[in-house]
Amino acid sequence: MPSFPATKTDPALQITPDMSQSAMEIYQVKIPARFPLQAGCFPSNSKKTSTFLPRVAAFSTSSHSLTDKSESESQNRMFILGMGFVCQFFAQSLQKEGWVVTGTCTSKTKKKHLEEKGFHVHLLDANQPELSTLNALKCYTHLLVSIPPVGCAGDPMLQHEELLRSTLLDGNLQWLCYLSSTSVYGHCDGAWVDEDYPTSPTSELAKLRLDAEEGWLNLGQSLGFSTQVFRLGGIYGPGRSAVDTIIKQEPQSEGQKMRKSRQYTSRVHVEDICQALKASIYTPSSRGIYNIVDDDPAPREEVFTYAEDLIKKKWPGHTKWSSNSASAASPTKKDNSRGDKRVSNMRMKRELGVRLLHPSYRSGLLSIIDQMENPFHCSP
Ligand SMILES: NC(=O)c1ccc[n+]([C@@H]2O[C@H](COP(=O)([O-])OP(=O)(O)OC[C@H]3O[C@@H](n4cnc5c(N)ncnc54)[C@H](OP(=O)(O)O)[C@@H]3O)[C@@H](O)[C@H]2O)c1
Repeated sequence: MPSFPATKTDPALQITPDMSQSAMEIYQVKIPARFPLQAGCFPSNSKKTSTFLPRVAAFSTSSHSLTDKSESESQNRMFILGMGFVCQFFAQSLQKEGWVVTGTCTSKTKKKHLEEKGFHVHLLDANQPELSTLNALKCYTHLLVSIPPVGCAGDPMLQHEELLRSTLLDGNLQWLCYLSSTSVYGHCDGAWVDEDYPTSPTSELAKLRLDAEEGWLNLGQSLGFSTQVFRLGGIYGPGRSAVDTIIKQEPQSEGQKMRKSRQYTSRVHVEDICQALKASIYTPSSRGIYNIVDDDPAPREEVFTYAEDLIKKKWPGHTKWSSNSASAASPTKKDNSRGDKRVSNMRMKRELGVRLLHPSYRSGLLSIIDQMENPFHCSP
């Protein structure tokens, strides 16, 4: 894992031994006057060359490697509020493309764990964000928000909207994305739902989500950034999937039990969320809201039966868990929080040009199990 040199500036923006060794390669282009680099983002003796933060495609074909500080100024820089499941995948994929990435989490233990994985991390309690963390935001070109709303407070970061506004106004930001949920549509009687479908959130949390969407859209758009809201379906990927639940024999959460009653559940593989995020960075669009789901809204039971079959085929004789027994337990209460609906991804495909890696849970689960070591293997 990289060690970060002591500096008055954000350590993530320094060149680390690890970064130069990995020969991350970038193209440099002229910076438009709109995105001046901020004083304090870089060491005072570093050359403030005009560099553009490219919005197009990855930059890994040049034979030019990152060797001095002025070159680091040309890099795209992503700040992630909430290094959870999705954002860790995304951060890793951006780092491979030469981005500077910094994220936040709430506990020291997780911070240490993330640092061991090679990420640069700030501790952040969104209810009481430290000024130094907010100030660090000024140096970043892109901001991804993954912190969910809570209780009666709503979006915890937007409680400090004015502070955020003044900070971002004074920074280098050009792109902002808020990760939301398809729960904002409410119950739709199995209808196909696109982004123009009227939102009608039923649960308190879904109502707060909708408020948060509006808050982040207003903030980003009023400051002139490219601003998106991604309404995500049920997220799955390596380490979090029906296959993992069966193998770990995890008891089902209340939410999972409730969702059992649903005819349709829209899902999305984490790799496709990452794809869509990158597409929105590199494809200028005036649209604000995108549904990010796969093509195949299927009942949860069907997904678990398929996952169980995959496990039985790959490791015969090891499945103790039964999707039948799990589905036999009746739902504790009717789930209206995300509701029965088939969420359409047409806008994501048409406008962002996303071609799903996993259009259905079938290919998603297959890829997950293909990459798995034998979980039943006992070492001698
Ligand atoms: N799970 C789903 O199926 C699903 C579906 C639709 C939408 N979503 C939403 O999509 C987003 C990404 O999903 P995910 O599964 O990757 O989320 P996740 O793993 O739960 O990550 C959420 C992140 O927010 C941080 N966080 C939570 N409360 C915070 C607070 N008060 N102050 C500062 N940070 C706080 C967490 O910090 P720690 O890392 O310290 O825990 C974590 O890093 C989330 O907003 C999620 O609610 C999820």
